[in-house]
Amino acid sequence: MYGLTDNELLKSASYINGQWLEGKTTFDVSNPANGETILAVNNAGVEETKLAVTAAKNALQDWKLKSANERGQLMRKWFDLMMANQSDLGRILTLEQGKPLAEANGEIAYGAAFVDWFAEEGKRLYGDTIPSPSADKRIVVIKQAIGVVAAITPWNFPNAMIARKAAAAMAAGCTFVVRPASQTPLSALAMAELAERAGIPAGVFNVVVGTNARGMGEVLTTHPDVAKFTFTGSTEVGKSLISQCATTVKKVSMELGGNAPFIVFDDADVDAAIEGALLSKYRNAGQTCVCTNRIFVHESIAEEFTQKFVAAVAGLTMGDGLKEGVHIGPMISAQACNDVDKLVEKSVEEGAVVALGGQRGEQGDNYYLPTILTGVKNSMPIASNEIFGPVSPIITFKDEEEVLAMANDTEFGLAAYFYARDIGTIWRVAEGLEYGMIGINEGIISNAAAPFGGVKQSGNGREGSKYGLDDYVEIKYLCMGGLERKAS
Ligand code: SIN
Repeated sequence: MYGLTDNELLKSASYINGQWLEGKTTFDVSNPANGETILAVNNAGVEETKLAVTAAKNALQDWKLKSANERGQLMRKWFDLMMANQSDLGRILTLEQGKPLAEANGEIAYGAAFVDWFAEEGKRLYGDTIPSPSADKRIVVIKQAIGVVAAITPWNFPNAMIARKAAAAMAAGCTFVVRPASQTPLSALAMAELAERAGIPAGVFNVVVGTNARGMGEVLTTHPDVAKFTFTGSTEVGKSLISQCATTVKKVSMELGGNAPFIVFDDADVDAAIEGALLSKYRNAGQTCVCTNRIFVHESIAEEFTQKFVAAVAGLTMGDGLKEGVHIGPMISAQACNDVDKLVEKSVEEGAVVALGGQRGEQGDNYYLPTILTGVKNSMPIASNEIFGPVSPIITFKDEEEVLAMANDTEFGLAAYFYARDIGTIWRVAEGLEYGMIGINEGIISNAAAPFGGVKQSGNGREGSKYGLDDYVEIKYLCMGGLERKAS
């Protein structure tokens, strides 16, 4: 089916407590490249979400009491299976999400890398001993799994956004329930199938798929048995989920929206900057939180940069991600195209100039042409909003102070990029940008070894890296007393 080697990876029901749970109704998962239905999937809701939380609660004690090595070995099997099935998983991902196959295969490797990383990192969940102010006491700190973790994940990275949360949680000894976006449940279910084959015990990794986002979200954010909630998605939705979590004082980590500046200073290697901007902006048709959102170019090199950038972007081929030679797939929906088009239209009304694209592609309602706007001001809608589409607004600047002020003039603080050669500029700008992640002469910054996360209204917590376990553990302080020296 659909050119898969292993049709058993295409699942149509939620995976709860090691069982595939058929429901009463179904919903269609469709291919954004052509609107065709891929599969009818059982529609889970509030009751099934509660069942998943209970399953995770029941599985917690056994999982938590396993040694980090035992958990790591099971996770390592899961990683091996993901990589062994990379091309099928990539195909499923492209079918439901739209990104080109090469990118989808890249996402599978990226997601699997978190499982591999945390399978090892779980072994290094070190505690601490602290010199005590009292001679008869000792202070010891241990880190323990926080408990049941609930997650809501987005459609733009249907595999990797689950993998980097689940792997950290499971390595720390937590059990996990995820509700993936209803547009892209198939990648999550394929991960569950492989978790089962890897021997991950029932109830440790649960996937509930359904269209009742509000109801299922309410269970995951308010259920007393959920200790920690984690979300990747928009800042607007994140804020309301945080407030729901407040009712039971859950630990939360949030990976929310971005408005990444991409700054090209006058001493930059312009060709390298163009390559970086191309990757950072047009990956996943611009539907990435860390995507370049505004390109700031020093006025002295603006003409050269713009000319070369337009030529490079014009060379991108748009189409069905399953087809050979396609660089940009469809957007997730016609509505997403409309939203991008409105931002472009309003900014053109305010004086921006379309240097390339600026409209839908002839391939269909879900396709938006790779676009470049010049003459953009930082206050225009295309610069002040998260675009989440394949549009590059170019803004010129005079000096470092001006560009830093413009770059930081946003409530977001996820990723930023800049290209420069002067070491003084590099340090000042890296320190001055109010963002959680900075690409310096580099357009692609995400990997399992690095701490991914934002500041300001882009969220809190870090995913991946040695810091990634912190969000899934509680620090427990042991005060050992009664150690007075006895007179001999
Ligand atoms: C995202 O869009 O939130 C994830 C991007 C990444 O992991 O690189």
